[in-house]
Amino acid sequence: MPTFPPASLGSPDAVPASWTHRHLLDLERLTADEIRLLLDTAARFKEATHGCRRKLSVLGGRTICNLFFENSTRTKTSFSLAARRLGADVVDFSASGSSLSKGESFIDTAKNLEAMGIDAVVVRHTTPGTPHLLAQHLDVGIINAGDGPHEHPTQGLLDIFSIRERLGDLAGVTVGLVGDIAHSRTARSNIHGLLKLGARVIVCGPPTLVSPRWRELGVEVSHDLDAIVPVCDVLNLLRIQFERQNTRPFPSVREYAHLYAMTAERMERARPGLLILAPGPINRGVEVSAEVADCPQSLILDQVTNGLAVRMAVLWLVCGPRGDASTTTTGDDGRGI
Ligand code: NCD
Repeated sequence: MPTFPPASLGSPDAVPASWTHRHLLDLERLTADEIRLLLDTAARFKEATHGCRRKLSVLGGRTICNLFFENSTRTKTSFSLAARRLGADVVDFSASGSSLSKGESFIDTAKNLEAMGIDAVVVRHTTPGTPHLLAQHLDVGIINAGDGPHEHPTQGLLDIFSIRERLGDLAGVTVGLVGDIAHSRTARSNIHGLLKLGARVIVCGPPTLVSPRWRELGVEVSHDLDAIVPVCDVLNLLRIQFERQNTRPFPSVREYAHLYAMTAERMERARPGLLILAPGPINRGVEVSAEVADCPQSLILDQVTNGLAVRMAVLWLVCGPRGDASTTTTGDDGRGI
């Protein structure tokens, strides 16, 4: 089995001292250099595993626990495969059928899992801040796989990785995030990551889902997809998060699609080479037409492949062997590690 990193890449066999975090809770608190380190590490894993297909042994002996309290197809499978491709063991916790239904608290459940000797928890929960709470109570690495509408850092990273792979440096690249910005954790993670790397970000959608207050984060706000299509290098088409809404934010899905779906007709008015991204699951005919989802400029399935590389990088940085320097820094939760 090949070891990471391949000799040709000539990097250290421990997590670099410049990575001082014990967890990956969000992109908001990472610096541009830390995001670049994550992306570079992902690129190395992609190469070392021949496009994420081969196995390495760098996390042999480690155990990763998936703690998913919300539905997931891509993210959970991707974390499991990424862990296995690095030689780690994976255990899946399922909330339904667990002792949570017998009144056990969330923290007690998590502490019991920790007591079985796991090295990291990958957590997805409907409540924002759940990963941050776990980081305060457990003594293992915590990775946020989506906390309600707050953040989804690995999705943000894999979106940025996919753009960088095609366009190079993000500085000066214009990215439109289109759709349900209000309820999208993907939007928040993209915004933090893209702005730190120097991209121009435009958020676009109906006024009920895109408040002018987003400008406070440093993005531009538009309610007119036709106006932003010609100026964007990338469009990331976000799903309407009906499951997080109490009232319908527009009169009908048909009207939404008429105004905000990316269609072949709109593609004609785009810059040549416009890249189409979507985190999935996609709703064909709502945020994107089938033609656009399947067009050559669509990176939707590349994003899924790159998600594996990004999650390998995250798991390795969180659980990999540490040099002396990184054991003396302060963790994300403010406690020494
Ligand atoms: C996203 C999520 O769960 O937030 N999907 C994903 O992780 N692949 C986006 C979405 O559900 O629309």
